[in-house]
Amino acid sequence: MESIPKNRLFALHWLQPAALCYTFLMIKESAVTAFAPGKVILCGEHAVVYGQPAIALPVFREQAKAEVLLTPGKPFTIDLPDIGAAFTLAEAPAAEPLARVARLTLARLKVEPPPARLTIHSTIPIASGMGSGAAVATALVRALSRFLSVQLPPAEVSALVYEGERLWHGTPSGIDNTVIAYGRPVWFQKEAPPRPFHTAIPFTLVVADSGVAGVTKDAVAGVRRRWQADRVTYDGYFVAVGEVVREIYRRLTSGTLVGVGALLDENQRLLAAMGVSHPALEQLIAAGRAAGALGAKLCGAGLGGNCLALVEAERAEAVAAAMRRAGARRTIITRVESRQKEART
Ligand code: MEV
Repeated sequence: MESIPKNRLFALHWLQPAALCYTFLMIKESAVTAFAPGKVILCGEHAVVYGQPAIALPVFREQAKAEVLLTPGKPFTIDLPDIGAAFTLAEAPAAEPLARVARLTLARLKVEPPPARLTIHSTIPIASGMGSGAAVATALVRALSRFLSVQLPPAEVSALVYEGERLWHGTPSGIDNTVIAYGRPVWFQKEAPPRPFHTAIPFTLVVADSGVAGVTKDAVAGVRRRWQADRVTYDGYFVAVGEVVREIYRRLTSGTLVGVGALLDENQRLLAAMGVSHPALEQLIAAGRAAGALGAKLCGAGLGGNCLALVEAERAEAVAAAMRRAGARRTIITRVESRQKEART
C-alpha cells in the first residue's frame, strides 16, 4: 500500500482547518482496503428476535470490500458503484444507514470526516438473507478506522454496524452484524455476549438463492403482527425453535452430525408455520432433500432469499444441481471447518 509522502502530509496539515489537523495526523496510508464476509443463519432466525438462541456462520465465498482513498480538498464521499449511488457524508440524510455508520465510526474515533472517497463493492446478493447490508457496513467501518490507523475489536465493529441494521431492518436481533464482525460461527442470544465457537465436526452446506427478493423488515414485521395476534401459538413456535437450536449446537460441538438434518427440517417446519417461507423456497428445499440432502431450510428472514441444505461433501454437487434445476438462481457450496481458517478482514 502506498504511503503518503511526509512533505504532502505536512502541506495538507497546514491547508486544513484546525479541526481536521488531528484527523490528518491519523492518516498513515493514502489508500486502504478492508473486507467482510456474507453470512447464513444455520438455525434459529426469527425466534432469535424473541430471545431464543440462533447459530450463524460466516460465508467467505461472498464478500463486501471497502476501499478508502485520500482525495485532498474533497469532502468525504461514499460511493456505491454496484447500485449506481454516491453521496457526500455532509449531504446524506440522518436516516441513510451507511452514512449513519460512517458518522458513528468517526465520532467513536473522535475525528472529523477525512477528505477521502470510500468505495464499496459486494458480491453478496441483496435481499437474499446473506447479510449484505451488515457486510457492506462492516467493510466500511473496518476500512474507515484502518484509514485512520485504528484497529477496532469485533465487538465495537459489530455495535457500530448494528446502528445501520436498525435503520435497514427495524428491530433486528443483532445476529447479522455479530457473525459478520466476528467472522466465526456464533451462538447468538439477545442481551447476552455472543459466543463464537468452533464446530467439532466439519460439515458442508449448499446455499441456494430462490431469486425472490425477501425484505427482512417486512418478514420481521409480519411475524411481529402475527405474534401480537396470537401470542400463545407464536411463543410456542419460538420455544420449539430454541430447543432445535440447542440440540444442533450440542451435536456440532460434541462432534456428531447424526440427526442434525432432521433438526434443520423441523426448524423449516416451524418457520413455514410462522408464515415466512415461500413457494419458491419450498420447491428448492424439496429438490435438495430429494437429491440426498440430510436436511434443508430457508436461511435468514425468508419470504424469498436463500435456503440451505446440509449435505455429505460428496453429494454437494448433485444437490446443488438439483436445486438449480428446481429454479435456484445460483448455488454456493460452503464448507464449515472444525477450525475456521483466518479470514481476510
Ligand atoms: C435476519 O437475517 C434474521 C432474522 O432473525 C432477523 C434478526 O435476527 O434480526 C429474521
